[in-house]
Amino acid sequence: MKREEFAKVSQASKHPAKVALAIVKDKNGKYNMITLEWFMRTSIQPPMFAISIGHTRYSHECLQEVRFFNLCLPSKEMAKVSKICGSKSGRDIDKFEETGVEWFAGRLAKLPILKDAKANFECKVITQVRSGDHTIFVGEVKHSWVNEDKEVQTVKDLM
Ligand SMILES: Cc1cc2nc3c(=O)[nH]c(=O)nc-3n(C[C@H](O)[C@H](O)[C@H](O)COP(=O)(O)O)c2cc1C
Repeated sequence: MKREEFAKVSQASKHPAKVALAIVKDKNGKYNMITLEWFMRTSIQPPMFAISIGHTRYSHECLQEVRFFNLCLPSKEMAKVSKICGSKSGRDIDKFEETGVEWFAGRLAKLPILKDAKANFECKVITQVRSGDHTIFVGEVKHSWVNEDKEVQTVKDLM
């Protein structure tokens, strides 16, 4: 065991993490998707998820304005969608048009539910915490959707 710089230790101790997409909406009703590695379940009852979003992201702006998100766990076959949503900003493009992803409107805030994902959770933002250059948004799950036959995506599927 030796003392090292944070970035090196963080990289060396990484295990294949799951990937999520958070689906959000701006104040004009434009939908956006952002790829996330930093998300977690935070409550059993009621079920809740936390997502950590960088202050510079367009999705951050959206979540300050419209307090709902869908947390989507993409399937393995959706690697292209996660790559686009993790490298381009909704400020510059419409990611739904660019990816051609299929969706239908959810029940809570009509945010898109991605048809080919493993799971989608419709969440209402309950609270948020500033964490350095990110904000942690905590959402309570109101509706859940699953595709029993799909396999969940990990960061390795994007390499
Ligand atoms: C595998 C992967 C994981 C990522 N995880 C996060 C994350 O947890 N939080 C975050 O703010 N950005 C994360 N990003 C970066 C954003 O997805 C990226 O900056 C995106 O283009 C922002 O889009 P937006 O400006 O439309 O919100 C990740 C990117 C990739 C490829």
